[in-house]
Amino acid sequence: MKNLPKAISLSFVALLLTCLLPIISGYAQAQAPAPDSPAIEAQARAMVARLTLEQKIELIGGVDSMFTHAMPAIGLPRFKMSDASVGVRTWGPTTAYAGGVALAATWDTDFARTLGEGLGRDARARNVNFLLGPGVNIARSPIGGRNFEYLSEDPYLNATIVVPFIEGVQSQGVVATTKHYALNDQEFDRHNASSDVDERTMREIYLPAFEAAVTKAHVDAVMNSYNLLNGVHATQNEFLNLKVLKGDWGFKGVLMSDWDATYDGVAAANNGLDLEMPSPRFMNAKNLVPAIKDGRVQESTIDDKVLRLIRTELRYGFTDRPQFDPADSTYSVADRAVALQGALKSITLLKNEDHLLPLDPAKIKTIAIIGPDAWPAVPGGGGSSEATAFEPVSTVTGIANLLGPNVHVLYSRGLPDMTDVFDGTLWDGDVKVETFPSRDFTGTPVVAARRGISDWKPDQWGPEDPTPRSIRYTVAYKAGQAGKYLLIAAGSGEDAFKVFVDGKQLLDQVHAEGQVPQYTSIDLAAGQSVSLRADYLPRAAGSRFGFGLAYEPDLVSADAKQFASLADVVVLAIGFDPATEGEGHDRTFTLPWGQDALVEAVAAANPHTIVTLTGGGGMDVRRWIDKVPALLHTWYPGQEGGTAVAEVIFGKHDPEGKLPISFDRAWQDSPSAPYYYGVAGGDTTLHTIGDNGNPLDYTMTHIQYGDKLMVGYRYWTTEGKHPLFPFGFGLSYTSFGFDHLQAPATAASGSTVPVSFDVTNTGSVEGAEVAQLYVSDPSAKAMRPERELKGFAKVRLAPGETKHITLDLDARAFSYWDESAHKWTIDPGRFVILVGDSSENTPLHAELTLN
Ligand code: BGC
Repeated sequence: MKNLPKAISLSFVALLLTCLLPIISGYAQAQAPAPDSPAIEAQARAMVARLTLEQKIELIGGVDSMFTHAMPAIGLPRFKMSDASVGVRTWGPTTAYAGGVALAATWDTDFARTLGEGLGRDARARNVNFLLGPGVNIARSPIGGRNFEYLSEDPYLNATIVVPFIEGVQSQGVVATTKHYALNDQEFDRHNASSDVDERTMREIYLPAFEAAVTKAHVDAVMNSYNLLNGVHATQNEFLNLKVLKGDWGFKGVLMSDWDATYDGVAAANNGLDLEMPSPRFMNAKNLVPAIKDGRVQESTIDDKVLRLIRTELRYGFTDRPQFDPADSTYSVADRAVALQGALKSITLLKNEDHLLPLDPAKIKTIAIIGPDAWPAVPGGGGSSEATAFEPVSTVTGIANLLGPNVHVLYSRGLPDMTDVFDGTLWDGDVKVETFPSRDFTGTPVVAARRGISDWKPDQWGPEDPTPRSIRYTVAYKAGQAGKYLLIAAGSGEDAFKVFVDGKQLLDQVHAEGQVPQYTSIDLAAGQSVSLRADYLPRAAGSRFGFGLAYEPDLVSADAKQFASLADVVVLAIGFDPATEGEGHDRTFTLPWGQDALVEAVAAANPHTIVTLTGGGGMDVRRWIDKVPALLHTWYPGQEGGTAVAEVIFGKHDPEGKLPISFDRAWQDSPSAPYYYGVAGGDTTLHTIGDNGNPLDYTMTHIQYGDKLMVGYRYWTTEGKHPLFPFGFGLSYTSFGFDHLQAPATAASGSTVPVSFDVTNTGSVEGAEVAQLYVSDPSAKAMRPERELKGFAKVRLAPGETKHITLDLDARAFSYWDESAHKWTIDPGRFVILVGDSSENTPLHAELTLN
């Protein structure tokens, strides 16, 4: 087109548009789902009426991992699914966004809609009909392995963010799936853990985001979780599925199982599950036809499931139009901009001593960018949400791009790879390897000698080895110099191990669905000898075990220390990644191995060390937080994270993220810690099917949610104690003032109460503030948390600008769940409205009496 005369090229474009317009507008009209209507209902019922019982049962089980079942007899093709909240995974490279906890850190409902629309477009461009997100479980504990995929610790924030997000996805003609319903707030032993929770705690903390998804956003699919609730698996839980979801909230869409989260076909069929994914292991003809014949399951129950599926598919027009929309792109420049926006809006500045930030690029000649998360980029965590970005921007490339060719950029990872630690361990003599013909180190072992223990393979899953084996490694180590030594071990897949030093057990990896390297620090004197034993239980054939010991000061590479001392400033990128934080296992609260030592060494070499954190929540920064002047949480920032980090550090964008979690000092400080691992129940029911089809030796674990309503800041503010950084907190390069709070002195219970106030940018650069409104109910008859978030608004202000904000508090803002009446209730009397910029800083107060 470049060489054509302008007039010709313009008329060509006009012609092209004239030809394409009917098609494009046809797609545009077809996008948002139609409301349910008598015509759709009649069509769906007519389709179901043409099916045999066996055909109906076929339709309620998935196929080929990510599809619904086709039914050519009624003109129904199969429909495609994909994960999920941070990018449309599963079907090749995609745009990877700052989703999940990063989205919550934006506190930006407009952006939530924009992100939902982006994901919807990406799904359409890959012919995807069902997006398997958003995940809205509560960040009850900082070690929850999938917190990064979810939103926050607060039900109101989750419920408020998830509504526009779902509306955005569904506006593109893609079904959103809210998951994991419900109480899937931990990853360990997820098939067998029972979340034992009272109804009030559920209704007030763990269910509101699902409730808003259904009643406000009209989400068309919900996914049941793996875990049990009060002793009954979610997929067959009458209370969750029939009473609450389909009863109280009137959910009309499709309730699908998580992948292999169905454990009993008849119980699931009778208790609300509509679609078993990824295949009908239990809700199949073999189990259901006899149950229908002898009356244990009604055929009308199956009809209802099929109707829900077909009704939804008809409403979305899936049978009338191709899901692929020519208006969209598989590689989208527009969506890259959305990804960048998300990262910019979510990066949260936690510490900025003496206003070190923003840095002036003109004053930098040499910058050192160090750390395991500096390169390559870490757009997201691990597991089923892990989207493969086309070209993710790392911190190194983002900063280098911003600074241009005249600044020296020095990069060092700073720490060795884990395999280098295993390979590099200088044991004192050979390792004795005893392989026992049993799973408990009994019987006559085969004995061998080796130089090292370095068989580790990350994330290697294999079929369970039918030959029982246990392997014991015994070796000695002699410390060259006095100091701290890193003791580290790692298996793979479902392996288990214990490590003992001089007979004392120091590391323990139980059989689990996945694992992260286990490590600790031990103090040794110069010349001290220790004996070590590792008892390793491989689940699959062969050994995938690695084991090492290293002098901590030697872990940090010499070039990292050298570069740090040469540079004007250091950006040190540490935290988690898909190997250390992901689905199927919880993560540590301590940073991955070696990183504390790395920060200490780099901060000692350069006082201008800016630390950036990657991860799904809080982590242990106690060893060095007082030694570094600046700290930013970048969450998992998506594919444009490196650009965003650079723009924030160099002041091109004012940091505006706010903590969606309480950032604890130690994980034991979290109110859920005493209850987190629960107690093994007396139940001996085997729930999990192993790779070879046999039940694995798991029993149910009961996790008593003894922390009840006291999750995160509810606990801290009620106790009058303080975490390291409070929920809602985040610094900016400008400052904001709050003023002129207005609320009625009295109002009728159940009425909507308007509250208004002013926010002013009192600093010298443009920035965005999140005004947060908390409600206290000191005269309640029931015990209530000291304050609860009930409103917020994100405002962008030029220097000196003031905006007047009005937040309407509805009846729910003043209510609690009355356990005996089983309903929301308001105790008339005194309430306090608190407004400010975090859960702990609320300068504006007003008293209100509800009659
Ligand atoms: C995860 C779900 C996911 C599904 C399909 C499961 O392992 O728990 O969140 O949607 O896999 O990938």
